[in-house]
Amino acid sequence: MSYLVLARKYRPQTFADLVGQEQISRALTNAMTSGRIAHAFLFTGARGVGKTSSARILAKALNCEQGSGTEPCNVCPACLEITAGNAVDVLEIDGASNTGVDDVRELRDTIRYLPARGRYKIVIIDEVHMLSTNAFNALLKTLEEPPPHVKFIFATTEPHKLPITILSRCQRYDFKRIPLKKIVARLEEIVRHEKISVTESALNVVARKGDGSMRDALSTLDQVLAFCGDNVLDEDVASLLGVVDRRLLLETSQAIFARDAAGVLDAVRQVDSFGYSMRQFCQELMELFRVLAILKAVKQPGELLDLADAELALLKQQAAPLTLDDLQRQITLLIKAESEMALSSFPRLVLEMALLRAATLPPVIPIGDLLERLKSLERGVRSGGASAVLPLAGERLSVASSPPLVVPPPARRRRLLLRPRFQRLRRRHSRRPWPGAATLGAALWRTSRRRRPASGRFWSTDTPLVSPR
Ligand SMILES: Nc1ncnc2c1ncn2[C@@H]1O[C@H](COP(=O)(O)OP(=O)(O)OP(=O)(O)O)[C@@H](O)[C@H]1O
Ligand SMILES: [Mg+2]
Ligand SMILES: [Zn+2]
Repeated sequence: MSYLVLARKYRPQTFADLVGQEQISRALTNAMTSGRIAHAFLFTGARGVGKTSSARILAKALNCEQGSGTEPCNVCPACLEITAGNAVDVLEIDGASNTGVDDVRELRDTIRYLPARGRYKIVIIDEVHMLSTNAFNALLKTLEEPPPHVKFIFATTEPHKLPITILSRCQRYDFKRIPLKKIVARLEEIVRHEKISVTESALNVVARKGDGSMRDALSTLDQVLAFCGDNVLDEDVASLLGVVDRRLLLETSQAIFARDAAGVLDAVRQVDSFGYSMRQFCQELMELFRVLAILKAVKQPGELLDLADAELALLKQQAAPLTLDDLQRQITLLIKAESEMALSSFPRLVLEMALLRAATLPPVIPIGDLLERLKSLERGVRSGGASAVLPLAGERLSVASSPPLVVPPPARRRRLLLRPRFQRLRRRHSRRPWPGAATLGAALWRTSRRRRPASGRFWSTDTPLVSPR
């Protein structure tokens, strides 16, 4: 017997089998139990998430000879014929190859006749967005008021290409991307059924490659099984799929956070020696930083993050000592490097420099802290008393190593600023006859205009905050 790929072999045959689309299954089964079944359905969503499968399940449930009314029995002749794709009452049309107005006219003529065996004549048009404008227009009237024995089910990945007139005549169901955990659970079920042992981490890698699509995940699993046979090793999976080992990503991010320049350069060396694409590594690193930033910003990330529990726990631990500001600056560097890499002949160099920069960024001082510091200085100056300056976040000021600056009141400050110059002038003039108050005043005024850095006792390290005048 010819080999059937896993995606086809394990096509869901009941609503209960449909993974990750529980809301749609519930809505459809409720409609059937209450007898409120629309005459036209539109199934939209990304590739490989169960639209065509659901259309077939719905067709079976509607025409099943002995089903419960909500789920197909999958054993009666009607169900078996639909599963095999040769039921006379179910017309499965490929929208991409029957795009013209003549095809729709032919369809209209066919559906006028009563179903041969089942309750309904069901028209499934897959990839319906490919129909021409004229074909859509020819369909409008029938779609508005079809004969009572006709049900339309349309499936498409691109609902925005459908005319609004078609959209408004259909009951629309949006299929979601399937969460990673659910894909992994389904893959586990399938490998158990196939009697192959694959580790959970390898299945995680396969599921992640699916990127929310069950068909893509199953096709990847097929490829892995063809390559590895019954003995699937994590390293083989990683090298076959060209995905970057998660451990290397974690090590690199840890080196950045530890400000370990040698560590980040060594990570790039490893990326090179494993033959991974520098750009893909950068993209995966960006994804990791995104997760860390979300973990930092949101207490309950819920559906924002699509990760296995073990990995989530690990990343939460990693995110704990980090700050959101630093993470955002590092992400900005990675985004810039990633776009530069696309054009550069030296992607390794671009990545190395970006990671080095990320690992050596000085810690940010929040603007709020700076303002607070300014305010405390201002308060001290206004009140005329000494005031301690607050240390800034990340500015590890210890009391012993750096005593707080003391700002004297303005009047006293001015006197202190002028005192050394006054003394110098007085010394100079004491050798000559006393020049008189007016001359001394003018000389003093001139020296104070020169704005030399103050040498007062209280400003040993700082320039004056206010002009000495
Ligand atoms: N929700 C799901 N639960 C279980 N398996 C699924 C699901 N979605 C897809 N699959 C698997 O992927 C295969 C393809 O699914 P299906 O043809 O329904 O996808 P689709 O949404 O129509 O995709 P496309 O838009 O590419 O036509 C199925 O045979 C099944 O093995
Ligand atoms: Mg499909
Ligand atoms: Zn049946």
